[in-house]
Amino acid sequence: MSRAIEKVAVVGAGTMGHGIAEVCAIHGYEVVLIDVSDEILRNALEKIRWSLEGLAARGLVKEPINAILSRVKPTTSYEEARDVDLVIEAVVENAAVKKEVFKRLDGMVKADAVFTTNTSTIPISELASATSRPEKFAGLHFINPPVLIHFVEVIKGDRTSDECVATVVDFAKSIGFKYVVLKRDVPGFLINRLNARHWVEALRMLEEGLDVRDVDAAQRFRLGFPMGPFELFDFSGIDVGYLAFNEMARRGFSIKLPEVVKKMYEEKRWGMKTGVGFYKYPAPGAYVRPTILPSDRMYDLNPYRMIASAVNEAAWLVRNEIVTKDEVELAMREAMQWPIGPLTWADRIGLDNVVSILNKRFEETGLEEYKPDPLLEEMVREGKLGLKSGEGFFKWKYEKKDLGAVVYEKRHDHAVVTINRPEKLNALNEAVWEGLRVALEMAEEDPDVRVAILTGSGRAFCAGDDIAMMSKWRGSMDAKAWAERYAAPLIEKAIEFKKPLITLVNGLAFGGGMELNILADIVIASKEAVFAIPEALIGAFPPLASSCGAPLVSKKIIRYALTGEWLSAEQCKELGLVDIVVPPDQLEATGAEMVMKILRAAPLGVEAVKSSVRAYRRMYKELLRAATQDLVILSSSQDFSEGARAFVEKRPPTWKGR
Ligand code: NAI
Repeated sequence: MSRAIEKVAVVGAGTMGHGIAEVCAIHGYEVVLIDVSDEILRNALEKIRWSLEGLAARGLVKEPINAILSRVKPTTSYEEARDVDLVIEAVVENAAVKKEVFKRLDGMVKADAVFTTNTSTIPISELASATSRPEKFAGLHFINPPVLIHFVEVIKGDRTSDECVATVVDFAKSIGFKYVVLKRDVPGFLINRLNARHWVEALRMLEEGLDVRDVDAAQRFRLGFPMGPFELFDFSGIDVGYLAFNEMARRGFSIKLPEVVKKMYEEKRWGMKTGVGFYKYPAPGAYVRPTILPSDRMYDLNPYRMIASAVNEAAWLVRNEIVTKDEVELAMREAMQWPIGPLTWADRIGLDNVVSILNKRFEETGLEEYKPDPLLEEMVREGKLGLKSGEGFFKWKYEKKDLGAVVYEKRHDHAVVTINRPEKLNALNEAVWEGLRVALEMAEEDPDVRVAILTGSGRAFCAGDDIAMMSKWRGSMDAKAWAERYAAPLIEKAIEFKKPLITLVNGLAFGGGMELNILADIVIASKEAVFAIPEALIGAFPPLASSCGAPLVSKKIIRYALTGEWLSAEQCKELGLVDIVVPPDQLEATGAEMVMKILRAAPLGVEAVKSSVRAYRRMYKELLRAATQDLVILSSSQDFSEGARAFVEKRPPTWKGR
């Protein structure tokens, strides 16, 4: 049961108040806008008119501007609020002032009217206690600017009635806003608690010596946020964040504010409003968007630290039943423009990864705030890891098939194919060749699967062809049978694979293990991965690298086919084989990140790219076939058997020719 609202009083006509009044008027409410001076009110009305003109120019308001404005009644007299149904208080963030305002209104406004406060940090029940109607009193927290961000947090105080919550929720809906209801008042509510964790982690990266632009670039270009944390901090005011976070800390929110933000606050480096913050602006209040460009440096830092900290906070809120999982997701997407909700993010990168980031940060800093929430720990214990186990915070479509030496997993919208012979460094024997082909076929046939990832279990990605298998060949007939039955069908499948194929190179990638990457669309390698095509050193040669390696990767690959020299992941990136190099603990998350980027693209567009890529790769099939034949011929040479024997016996070979 909610109470009907027709007339609203907005008290305080500053940054928030004028915007809230505007939104109410747009949606047909009569608004009494109260402040302490006529000049402030004149200013507020000017801002409302300016804003309405902007909205009208974009066709976002239906009525003439004057009709909307005529519903806003500016006044310095509280008496005018006598007959309102709803009060929205948005005066300065000062408990004494707010209590005084509510006390005066309480004696004047009709008894059944609902009171709300837009406070960011003052306990709702404390303000409610200044009135005789605590059951008709709730928090109604807007986000700046309310004209653009149509989202509110509705907060229950100790004595707020369900009817009051229903009234406020219906009001939020009536102005076209989405909302969450906090069942209990906690410092920072939902959004600022998560923001505090997110931004403080960004600040700690600065203290560690990372560059502002690199952190912002990682957030924008890796995570897909519209703004980096520092851009946003500058935009919304470092003073606002600093004061709010400090107040939250004072009220028991466990956080240690980094010195850098205190210093900036004291030096009045408040961002755009003072002309300098993390970036410089042409003049105080003049906003020019900082230039932030993508660079490889954004892969040196770990942006998932910021996500993990926010997830930890969200887990606390969910475990304490203050909000639901869906409310967390909605709030961060709608109010803070997160590209996906934090809990979905945790599910995508893996709850185990989130917990290990938090544990690492706890070990590094000793700060309690990093201790993984018991909910996260319990989920990991129960194997609720997210997409990789079919359930995390949410349920996902999941299938797992053990193909012998290869494991196929459908993880909701992508497949993960893992070479699973860790004890043999994932060397390519018949079972692996065959398993990989079958796994790619499964990925291709499943319409839910839009991307496939290939990786290795344990320390290696893939050590190349299994020499033990090759040493059993009794001449070229065996080699030919192997080529026809195992190698060629997988290579054919990889060339013709219709979906994007990403490899996550987690460790050693030698010979065939390095060459598989030539046919992948995106290669992401751990910094610790090492590559080589050393076949010539054992009397064979790398058929894929030697034939289409030059046209598909680079002429430079020839050197490595001739010498068998090792390459680091970075060198392989210079070569053109590897696209992205990341620290080992970020490999899995970066794979998930790339999957999400591809999922954002139009399926038909992705299909068309892959179709062209297939046509391009097909041009080299003849070269490849000839190289495979050469390898079969070579397999009957004395060098081939000497090379394999010497390798197994761990001695230098003596070359004898054909
Ligand atoms: P502001 O300083 O821009 O505006 C406050 C207004 O209240 C001023 O115009 C002031 O003259 C008026 N005022 C002071 N005492 C008054 C009284 N006794 N009666 C009537 N009016 C009085 O502050 P801002 O930023 O609009 O914040 C207002 C409230 O909204 C605060 O509680 C703040 O925590 C909250 N808030 C602010 C956000 C922001 O980004 N600025 C976001 C969400 C909430």
